[in-house]
Amino acid sequence: MSKKNEIIVIGDYTATQLEKLSEEFQTILVKKTDDLGSLSTVSRERIEGIAFKGHRPLEFDASSFDLLPELRIISNFGVGYDGIDIQEASRRGIKITNTPDVLNDDVADVAIGMLIALSRNFLNGVDWIKSGAWGKSGEMPLNRTVSGKKAGIVGLGRIGHAIAHRLSGFKMNIHYYSRSKKGSAKDWKFYNDPVSLAAEVDILFIALVGGQETSQFVNKEVIEGLGTDGILINISRGSTVDEEALLNALEKKRIRGAALDVFSNEPNINPRFLELENVFLQPHQGSGTIETREAMAKLQRDNLSRFFANESLLTPVNLN
Ligand code: 8YV
Repeated sequence: MSKKNEIIVIGDYTATQLEKLSEEFQTILVKKTDDLGSLSTVSRERIEGIAFKGHRPLEFDASSFDLLPELRIISNFGVGYDGIDIQEASRRGIKITNTPDVLNDDVADVAIGMLIALSRNFLNGVDWIKSGAWGKSGEMPLNRTVSGKKAGIVGLGRIGHAIAHRLSGFKMNIHYYSRSKKGSAKDWKFYNDPVSLAAEVDILFIALVGGQETSQFVNKEVIEGLGTDGILINISRGSTVDEEALLNALEKKRIRGAALDVFSNEPNINPRFLELENVFLQPHQGSGTIETREAMAKLQRDNLSRFFANESLLTPVNLN
């Protein structure tokens, strides 16, 4: 049997994912990039490949690259690669791959599920039964219709498309902001600025890519442009929304509510969110199903295997 290639595995993986990685590669495990320095110089200095999982902004930066002089590829677990300084990687000739497409459906499902859970107050419904309020007080308070509302999507990429297709089934007209008009969106209305989009719609989905370019793109003007009956849903990255402006808008009821799967500084989110009643919060679980995480893990491994076999990468992000 040929000798397995050696890689460093960074991040929080399931036991099965680690087992599968170690079937194909010789693995050195660390929890985060900060721990790279604790590995021996000998092992760090011969590593060419990394399996990376993490989305703290620019977690993998120049100081991590400096510890790995022979590094040639980082195979990222996730479609978003804002955890890696891509410019710095490219400058050093290091290839980056990600895991697009395989998670579109699960993430879009969570976006729609959160919209319904928030609008129909599912959490309150559960409490109404468990607390005995149904028997004592009768019907729970009325909530709000989802179908037929006007929906806006900020960032019409692959996940944005998957959300839009689902919304059509809810009899919604789709409006979107994106850098340019999309040929794939003929039935949907294009806006070249997010503030006019927010002013037009009832529900605003944020499906932008993360990273410095989109940092706080959804600012106070966009958020408050939604109006007192508007809802904001974020399944992208916490960094794409001005969280202080969002918290203020929610606390002062300048918008009706927000459903959020992503936050700044995960998992230690701003405690002000915990005090709010007009939110539905999820712990960044958009792609978190057994099926999708298996597909993401396989794509991560396959990109590494192809790199070591000198074959073209399946889903390159920078150099090919
Ligand atoms: C994470 C994600 O990768 O794909 C992305 O960009 O944010 C998620 O799917 C996943 O939560 C693992 O950390």
